[in-house]
Amino acid sequence: MQIAGKRVLLTGAAGGLGEVSARALAEHGATMILSGRDEQRLNELAASLPGDGHEVIVADLSVADAAERVVGQAGRVDILIANAGRPGGDNLAFTTSETVTDVLRINLESPIQMSRAVLEQMKERGEGQIVLVASMAGKFAMPGSTLYSSTKSGLRAFGWALRAEVAKYGVGVTLISPGFVSEVGMFAKRNGKAPPGSGMVSPSRYARELVEAIEKDRGEAVIASPQLRGLGQFSLIAPGLVERIFRRVAPARGRRD
Ligand SMILES: NC(=O)c1ccc[n+]([C@@H]2O[C@H](COP(=O)([O-])OP(=O)(O)OC[C@H]3O[C@@H](n4cnc5c(N)ncnc54)[C@H](OP(=O)(O)O)[C@@H]3O)[C@@H](O)[C@H]2O)c1
Repeated sequence: MQIAGKRVLLTGAAGGLGEVSARALAEHGATMILSGRDEQRLNELAASLPGDGHEVIVADLSVADAAERVVGQAGRVDILIANAGRPGGDNLAFTTSETVTDVLRINLESPIQMSRAVLEQMKERGEGQIVLVASMAGKFAMPGSTLYSSTKSGLRAFGWALRAEVAKYGVGVTLISPGFVSEVGMFAKRNGKAPPGSGMVSPSRYARELVEAIEKDRGEAVIASPQLRGLGQFSLIAPGLVERIFRRVAPARGRRD
């Protein structure tokens, strides 16, 4: 889908990859509807983007019904980018029931509810693009990443199934599966060092590939180093082998028993 002149609803807009995405799409002529929890930050971002008419919707996606309310408030949405996400926390044995509910709602339920809600108007117009920000963690799961990986894997399955469902309405669905992104975002904030040999991608490459994926209606854009892409593919074919490797090389992820 062409980006110029389109209204783009972006969740997690004030986060690292959110800001990178907002800037890239605004530079391509989109009007941005920026959603997140930090009103001041969102207003500052809206004011700093090229073009005008950018809007802000404040919402906490861990609250039931917030996802549907955001879509209702947004009005016309040509492109939805479900980008908001949070890390899963700790090993499951140290995770609270509230955290499980929160992560599932923010990372998986909200994108599904928003896609459902926005589909109604996209179907009527016979066009639209739904972009779901998943992760390489949805292709292979490391110890300490049970909850996060399961939401991203679920989102990936949802995206591919939805794409086949809605193509007949003229609506495209694109999965974005990043590996480790440097400089900005949740990974850079936590420790910023990828496991040896796994490689990282720059925010500018992320922006470039996101834009291209939307313009070309790609099913999935894997934005990761070649070695991480390879591991992702291998893990889908031989998950047991990858699990045995992780047992040896990554036992110290998350909190130790
Ligand atoms: N960075 C990476 O290396 C990487 C790799 C793979 C996938 N990803 C995915 O990329 C997406 C963006 O992440 P990021 O790296 O930009 O992380 P980030 O800087 O931590 O941003 C995450 C965004 O999600 C929003 N969010 C979290 N909880 C929320 C809630 N309860 N309600 C509404 N919004 C909420 C945050 O909003 P607030 O501003 O209100 O806190 C923030 O804007 C995520 O889906 C993540 O899983 C990132």
